Amino acid sequence: MEELVCLNGSLLPRSKARISAFDYGFLYGYGLFETMRAYNGKIFLLGRHLKRLFESAELIGLDSALADTDLEQACFDVLKANNLKDARMRLTVTRGDAGAFPGTKQDAVASVLITATAYTPLPAEAYEKGYRALISSFRRDSGSLLSGLKSTSYLLSVLAKKEAVTAGTDEALLLNERGSIAEGSISNVFFIKQGELFTPTVESGILPGITRETVLELATGSKIRATEADIGAEDLPRFDEAFLTNSVLEIMPLVAVRDKAGKTVSFGSGKPGETTQRLMSAYREMVAQETA
Ligand SMILES: Cc1ncc(COP(=O)(O)O)c(C=O)c1O
Repeated sequence: MEELVCLNGSLLPRSKARISAFDYGFLYGYGLFETMRAYNGKIFLLGRHLKRLFESAELIGLDSALADTDLEQACFDVLKANNLKDARMRLTVTRGDAGAFPGTKQDAVASVLITATAYTPLPAEAYEKGYRALISSFRRDSGSLLSGLKSTSYLLSVLAKKEAVTAGTDEALLLNERGSIAEGSISNVFFIKQGELFTPTVESGILPGITRETVLELATGSKIRATEADIGAEDLPRFDEAFLTNSVLEIMPLVAVRDKAGKTVSFGSGKPGETTQRLMSAYREMVAQETA
């Protein structure tokens, strides 16, 4: 059966979902999105994802568009309509057809699309092997509003991820304009030194990830010291372990990073380390509890 999506409040087959060619999301990347995981028919940390979406919507003037939409219910409806328990969900909101540039039309109707696609997690071996990353030639701008938003202006992430995959690696790490490590193209990054966790600050130009926030909380609960810090590419050799986070990937060990000169830094034995594994277990336990 064809996948059903929710477009502007209506459930309809994926092939019938249409938006205006003059939608500001299409024309100008004026929109936001959230990517989430459903486990066992429950959407993990949906409340946090919606909070981030609403706060970002306020910053870019999309909040009134969302005011009378029950997004939480709509997300569950899509999951149910597709008879899915384990899924990758995406919620996209754009400004809609807002008329002549710069789109001050008051009565423009936002476009809201929710999709749920069956998701089979990567096999356990992928997590045992870990990811390899390169230092991207693209940069995050720590002063840019866009760096902190999960906006549909996602070009930099797409190009950075493409750069990584073309070079035979799994992920790209983006530095900011000061040369500090900010984040992955579609993930946040953590490093570990002697059991202590380090991650770039929100001010370094990252998307404040829901998984990042969760990992920081789990670290506290597991008595793992965690510090948000400025981390330079030159600091990489001093770390024993590293990992990447996002809502779909969860916690993925990062075993090596190739720098711009082509030199590779491996972490520890080049296999997922002990602290990473502790956090992976804690995360999966939390998922199991919250989605039981
Ligand atoms: C640029 C970027 N950073 C970080 C993340 C991780 O965010 P979250 O943990 O909320 O999925 C994502 C998610 O796709 C992302 O696109």
